[in-house]
Amino acid sequence: MEECCKSTKEILAMDEGSNVSVRGWVYRFRDFRDKVFMLVRDSTGVIQVVFRDDVAGEARKADIEASVVVSGSLRRDPRAPGGKELEAKSFRLVGEAKNFPITKDYSREYLLDVRHLWIRSRRMTAVLKIRHTVFGALHEYFRKHGYYEVQCPMFVKAAVEGGATLFPVKYVDESTVYLTQSSQFYLEALIYSLEKVYTIAPSFRAEKSRTRRHLTEFWHCEAEVAWAGLEEIIRVEEELVGYVVQKVLENNQEELKLLGRRIEPLERCKPPFYRISYDEAIEILERKGVNIKWGDDFGADEESKLVEEFDKPVFVCRYPEKVKAFYHKNDPLRSEVTLSADLLAPEGYGEIIGGGERIDKLEELVDKIKRFGLNPEDYEWYLDLRRYGSVRHAGFGLGVDRTVMWIAGLDHIVDAIPFPRTIRRAYP
Ligand code: 4AD
Ligand code: MG
Repeated sequence: MEECCKSTKEILAMDEGSNVSVRGWVYRFRDFRDKVFMLVRDSTGVIQVVFRDDVAGEARKADIEASVVVSGSLRRDPRAPGGKELEAKSFRLVGEAKNFPITKDYSREYLLDVRHLWIRSRRMTAVLKIRHTVFGALHEYFRKHGYYEVQCPMFVKAAVEGGATLFPVKYVDESTVYLTQSSQFYLEALIYSLEKVYTIAPSFRAEKSRTRRHLTEFWHCEAEVAWAGLEEIIRVEEELVGYVVQKVLENNQEELKLLGRRIEPLERCKPPFYRISYDEAIEILERKGVNIKWGDDFGADEESKLVEEFDKPVFVCRYPEKVKAFYHKNDPLRSEVTLSADLLAPEGYGEIIGGGERIDKLEELVDKIKRFGLNPEDYEWYLDLRRYGSVRHAGFGLGVDRTVMWIAGLDHIVDAIPFPRTIRRAYP
């Protein structure tokens, strides 16, 4: 019977009177004395099924979230979702679902405890469909623009983004290795043959603070480009983000609507995005009464305040040396700042990309590693890249989960990924 099943979406597009079968899960159930209404959901949507007579008795055995197969004929019903309903002729309960643990609204914590079941919800399904579009669009963009996709190790020996958030792992030989914070250094090694490379992979940060936008395991989309500087890489970033947003608008109107996401701010996200300097950002924040001084890094609060001023994403360029990792190249015209840029998303979302130009001279890099209190020996192979055919280059890392959070309009990053890993949670 399952073999000839059609999806709910296909069925709703069929003519009245068609005889069809559908398989899926019981989404809603209403029992009247003479009949039973059931909403059956599958990956494409929901369909209303009405059961009368004997077949209603069978249907009463199915609980919410049971898996079922129903055959019947299609009729018009303006009150049903999609304007049609299936009049059931036969029914089969495939897998029962006694006492499904989510029946009404629960706290975020509870829903995280039963995440393996909550991902069936229409909200989570909508987010996951948007996320699917985002990943697809990232790959498409890079492949259309001549980038090679590469894969980098997850076990690494040294920090990229500072020691504070490293996750140590005991390796096979008992030595300590770390889970990667960023594939950047490996991407830098790969530009000497492939020139333009990207990867989409997990990155790990032992983030100690609980925030709405930090995961301990997040998906990182990183790119690195030989011969490019800050300006060129900023242009890649805005084109990429514009492309991703456009693809979501093309493919996920239904999901955005279900999530209650306002479309207009997304429609505005076409390049060029705004560009301001770190100095200007400080001025804006001071004007807004934020207690901050030149040299301070921005946290989520400062970024939210800052983006209030902008109706599409904004690049903040040239951060001070000491708030950016050691590999950032200092501005040759003004050595206290770096050739760096963060992209901040509008509507309070804040940083979604970090990137910029890298130091390409050996002495400059060794000096800076020392100035940052690090040991050049830990970065031996990375220094080699400056010994053999070094070129100017730049790159960036986009947090995919944060990007999904923004595009889908979510108020917490845990809802942007099916099985979030946070400071307090690695289950289920
Ligand atoms: O700004 P970050 O730390 O930059 C880097 O890691 C560079 N090495 C990337 C590169 O140039 N190749 O991280 C990049 C982005 C951030 O802008 C943010 O979107 C995301 O990664 N991110 C996180 N997302 C979720 N949870 C966390 N704990 C994150 N940390 C960074
Ligand atoms: Mg950053």
